[in-house]
Amino acid sequence: MCGIVGYIGDKNVYPILIKGLQRLEYRGYDSAGVCIANTGLKVYKQKGKVSELESFVASKDVHGTIGIGHTRWATHGEPNNTNAHPHTSMNGSFVLVHNGIIENYAKLKNDLVQKGIVFQTDTDTEVLVNLIEYYYEQDGIDSAEMAVRIALSKVVGAYGIVVLCRKEENKMIAARMGSPLVIGIGQGEYFLASDASPIIEYTDSVIYMNDGDVAILEKHSLTLKTVENSPANFEVTKVDLSIGDLDKGDFEHYMLKEIFEQPKTISDTYRGRINPQKDDIVLGGLIDVWDKIVEARRIIIIGCGTSWHAALVAEYLIEEYARVPVEVEYASEFRYRKPIIDKGDIVIAISQSGETADTLAALKMAKQNGALILGICNVVGSSIARETDGGVYTHAGTEIGVASTKAFTAQVTVLTLFAFKLARLKENIDQETYQLFIKEMLAIPDKVESVLLAHPKIKEIAKKYKDSVNALYLGRGYLFPVALEGALKLKEISYIHAEGYAAGEMKHGPIALVDDNLPVVVVSAKDNYYEKVVSNIQEVKARKGNIIAVVTEGDNGLRNMADDLFEIPESHPAVAALLTVVPLQLFAYYIALMRGCDVDQPRNLAKSVTVE
Ligand code: F6R
Repeated sequence: MCGIVGYIGDKNVYPILIKGLQRLEYRGYDSAGVCIANTGLKVYKQKGKVSELESFVASKDVHGTIGIGHTRWATHGEPNNTNAHPHTSMNGSFVLVHNGIIENYAKLKNDLVQKGIVFQTDTDTEVLVNLIEYYYEQDGIDSAEMAVRIALSKVVGAYGIVVLCRKEENKMIAARMGSPLVIGIGQGEYFLASDASPIIEYTDSVIYMNDGDVAILEKHSLTLKTVENSPANFEVTKVDLSIGDLDKGDFEHYMLKEIFEQPKTISDTYRGRINPQKDDIVLGGLIDVWDKIVEARRIIIIGCGTSWHAALVAEYLIEEYARVPVEVEYASEFRYRKPIIDKGDIVIAISQSGETADTLAALKMAKQNGALILGICNVVGSSIARETDGGVYTHAGTEIGVASTKAFTAQVTVLTLFAFKLARLKENIDQETYQLFIKEMLAIPDKVESVLLAHPKIKEIAKKYKDSVNALYLGRGYLFPVALEGALKLKEISYIHAEGYAAGEMKHGPIALVDDNLPVVVVSAKDNYYEKVVSNIQEVKARKGNIIAVVTEGDNGLRNMADDLFEIPESHPAVAALLTVVPLQLFAYYIALMRGCDVDQPRNLAKSVTVE
């Protein structure tokens, strides 16, 4: 979390920093700040969003062509003006922005306090900036860069940092360990940012920094070395991102835009992966590893939040059709619980951002244990994508709304293709069934389009339930993860307490919640579970709960039982998750909107969770 940005060149730096911070605000919005080098290092910072920083800075001197900026998601120290970044060292020689966590900060701070260094903030970052200054002031240290490297060699934890030094004002020093940093290469200018979005309108040439590397940037020169002072390996690549992707267009919120983009993002995700004869699925990033996947003893899928829900859909699909044992785990649990992993295992990490700290660490651990590791990521060039032996990108485009929507359906699309292909390779389904599945997938975008057309009705229904205090979401089979995802969407953006449950579990506890105030969202399809779901609905009705049912068009049985209906076109149960989730995304969106919540930037959250 936290977004960092930097620029060195001839342009006026302040607008570049502000625009960059706005693009990175999805990474955290507790406070924002900038430092501009112009005969001294001028720091301006403010609690709250970037817009609040802009108002604060309105009458200040922001002239200069070198600067750094930060938007914060608080870890150490409450979100206030003092704890906001950038942080300045005690004697004012260094200013630093940081994304990550310095895990041994308490010990380092203690040592520095013993040496007479006085701290102003509660942050771990202030320790690092003072450590750099401390080394800079020692005999034999002849440059800011050297001081940065020595300080970093003492640090345990994760960081992406950019540092300015008062005595070397024409220089920016950046370093990465665990938190992403991208360098943009212009003509006589360089950009730095946590992702490429602040850079793309100036240049498409970028370097994704590697862990353990330090970059020294001047207007006309860039040096990349390791913390140990050896030359670093790097590659200049082209970013495939357009500014249009970063606009809200005619939509009121990014989340709404992203929900409505789904017909396109699903088809972008399968395009080029289904052959022109529509009789085979080709996942280019797995070509070299299919043999190992087919032979796998079991598949373990790891992820967090919404990505974990996509993994659950995959578990049902892979086990049913490919008949390979699948385990789905929260990455945060998997990485610490000493799981049994060996060479016959395939570990698949699912992550929109490709930067989630727990998922990345879990993946590295699985790799060390000899598993083949694969990734399904949305952000090209992200840390997880670069760590894997193979993988498939979801082509959802940039997702800016903090609540994930189009990334989920793109993940489920990839995982569904993966399950069908594996099932065919293992000869657990025949060619006719395989082709039927492909046809079902190709029909999904038009069907999602028709679900979206019902948005006025979904908005009307949302009006009825907007003041609810709790909500229950129920589903079975492939639609159980959809129930979890629907509940997560509602709670994270509207702050209504919502629980997702496997419908069969209801009578083992959650049914106690049911009364005439409780909305119960039941996700159903014409599948093997249908009759069971009908019984669950009866149980809720008998206790006066309000039923909002997601049903297949023409399902008159449930029409008569439910208080409200979201209808979806008929489809094969194996692809129904891609349709049933869409009305739930819209339902959560409209409720949050009517409750006056900040839909795109819900409280306490950030999109890219690069800390544990
Ligand atoms: C929920 C949401 C989060 C993310 C989770 C994992 O709407 O967005 O639960 O799904 O933080 O993030 P990624 O997929 O980037 O690893």
